[in-house]
Amino acid sequence: MSLPAADGPAIETHDVRRVFESRKGFLFREKTRTEALKGVDLTVERGAIFGLLGPNGAGKTTFTKILSTLLLPTSGRALVLGHDVSRETDWLRPRMGLVLGGERGLYNRISGRENLRYFADLYGVPLAEREERIRQLLERVDLVGAADRRVEEYSRGMKQKLHLARGILHRPEILFLDEPTIGLDPKSARETRKLIRSLVGDGVTIFLTTHYMFEAEELCPRLAVLSKGRIVARDTVDGLRSLVGGDRTFEVEAYGFEDREVEALRRLPGVSKVVEEEFGPMTRLTLRVRTLETNLGQVRDLLPGHPELAVRERRTSLEDVYLDLVDEEVR
Ligand SMILES: Nc1ncnc2c1ncn2[C@@H]1O[C@H](COP(=O)(O)OP(=O)(O)OP(=O)(O)O)[C@@H](O)[C@H]1O
Ligand SMILES: [Mg+2]
Repeated sequence: MSLPAADGPAIETHDVRRVFESRKGFLFREKTRTEALKGVDLTVERGAIFGLLGPNGAGKTTFTKILSTLLLPTSGRALVLGHDVSRETDWLRPRMGLVLGGERGLYNRISGRENLRYFADLYGVPLAEREERIRQLLERVDLVGAADRRVEEYSRGMKQKLHLARGILHRPEILFLDEPTIGLDPKSARETRKLIRSLVGDGVTIFLTTHYMFEAEELCPRLAVLSKGRIVARDTVDGLRSLVGGDRTFEVEAYGFEDREVEALRRLPGVSKVVEEEFGPMTRLTLRVRTLETNLGQVRDLLPGHPELAVRERRTSLEDVYLDLVDEEVR
């Protein structure tokens, strides 16, 4: 029996694992076993947007489905709003919303408004409130003009907006969004992010997955990176920057470098990492730099004899951090 911990974490998982077993082939039905989640421990506080990043196949959707009671974990324990996702689904379902990317889950032959009516009745939205609530929602997701057209005539982006409206129709306390802006044009994606942010203002906790690093950086004060079924990092964007060795990044380009030059750069104070990449005839060295002691002038001094040399400094982006983390996991 879990306590109704109204001020406890929004999400708390302990050693959550999920195995998929399926059979392949026709005659010799070969059994395949995929360990999608290999022991996930994660705590997410209430009232903010938490982002889950990770490469394709990392287990993000599987984890999201487990948290939203769509899928059972093979083992381990997951609590949402203090309640067990495997055993307290009746308590949880009215309090959570789920929006999975993709086109399924809407009725194509009826209008957007009729879809929302259907789900409102399903979720037990009081009839007296229904029409007004739907009207406000359609406005909020910018679908007023298309509300009475059949969903089969909707573009992908319009369907995604309708999905989002459906996900918040019953005013959930926690909302799970699996790649909420996938397939949206830049303007619609921006409006969707604005809508997501405004929900936090209403007190909703949001758990979202995304492949767009700028989106994660813009929306999520805290993030976790999932790689091959394991959480490899969990922190703020700044925390993750220092985890991968610095918030400054230098890019150095020339027609190839000698090993001793690369070594000299590696030995500069505060340099935690040097990655070498080829771009046609050019080589680019990317340096992760921790301290303020080192500057671009020192880099130039170490590389005489390269008239074509180009050096620049930028802030380490979440994308750099992400690639470092996922890359380390691969090696
Ligand atoms: N129903 C299923 N049956 C068998 N294997 C599955 C099933 N669902 C997911 N998997 C496997 O579990 C692993 C994790 O998949 P999941 O969809 O959770 O990844 P993801 O992080 O959401 O990836 P993406 O970024 O591509 O959406 C993958 O290896 C996938 O093939
Ligand atoms: Mg997915």
